[in-house]
Amino acid sequence: MLEKLMEMKESAKEKISEAKTIQELNETKSLYLGKKSPLQALFSQMKDLTNEGKKELGQKINEFKTMVEEEVNKRLEKIKEEEVERRLKMEAIDVTLPGKEIPVGALHVLTKTIEEMEDIFLSMGYSVVEGPEVEEDKFNFEMMNLPKNHPARDMQDSFYINPNILLRTHTSPVQARTMLKAKGEPIKVICPGKVYRRDDDDATHSHQFMQLEGLVVDKDISMADLKGTLSLLMQKMLGKNTKIRFRPSYFPFTEPSVEVDVTCFKCGGKGCPLCKGSGWIEVLGGGKVHPNVLKMAGYDPNVYTGFAFGIGIERIAMLKHGIDDIRNFYISDPRFLKQF
Ligand code: DAH
Repeated sequence: MLEKLMEMKESAKEKISEAKTIQELNETKSLYLGKKSPLQALFSQMKDLTNEGKKELGQKINEFKTMVEEEVNKRLEKIKEEEVERRLKMEAIDVTLPGKEIPVGALHVLTKTIEEMEDIFLSMGYSVVEGPEVEEDKFNFEMMNLPKNHPARDMQDSFYINPNILLRTHTSPVQARTMLKAKGEPIKVICPGKVYRRDDDDATHSHQFMQLEGLVVDKDISMADLKGTLSLLMQKMLGKNTKIRFRPSYFPFTEPSVEVDVTCFKCGGKGCPLCKGSGWIEVLGGGKVHPNVLKMAGYDPNVYTGFAFGIGIERIAMLKHGIDDIRNFYISDPRFLKQF
């Protein structure tokens, strides 16, 4: 019997050390200590022994039990450790792996151009105002000194929604809206925004484009103020050696009116293919606010004068960055957009 117990000791040790999971370990434990274990058979044979023999066997059985329990506990610790290690390995993060690339967007080149111009005007004390893109004929034309059937309306082919409402053809109606709101007080604003014209799109024309309108109304405002303001703007936008010149022109809302050119930034004014040999590039229109425009908006033209201008924002961005086709701004091609 003692031999039998010795054998069981050996095989129990081996089995316990082989258990891989807690469940397997529990099964092994009950195999040796449970109700159906060979230990029970030993107990039942005990009655045939002498007192001495009983004592000895009982002791050995107790030793065996203690041994099994100790081994099981040791193994249990080991299994738990192995489990922790296994999970650590499985859940480990390889910090040397390259990260997932998250594409980062950026401001559109037109937005950047507008913000740059806004900063320049803000530093000169201007405010930025906006007006609606769906505009009344009254503001888009009539209050800008273009009554119904005025021939100059043909210069701005329009998208009408009904006979009195259209997509604004320029940002000039914001002038009229601002003057009505200011109720005779001095004004110094710029108005950037989208405008629409019925036009066939090509490299320099788009049915939708952007303008930046400027309006200053106060006492003693002159053409010299307009020239100084635009000079500074163009030097900041296109380089400090940029010069501007005024050419006489016609707009219904200004008198006198001018077309404004800048020295060609490519050849510096010598003449090259970009400026078609003239050394100058046309960039905007402006002039002194027409007395009729002032009057219609409640300003006395004998007391107040003002200047106004309208700049094509794409045109400035094209000159600044050497972009040769206005349609690039609107087709959302990342190969174009990523350059800015
Ligand atoms: N509104 C004009 C256009 O779209 C541009 C313009 C010219 C605006 C002269 C002005 C101005 O304010 O004074 O063609």
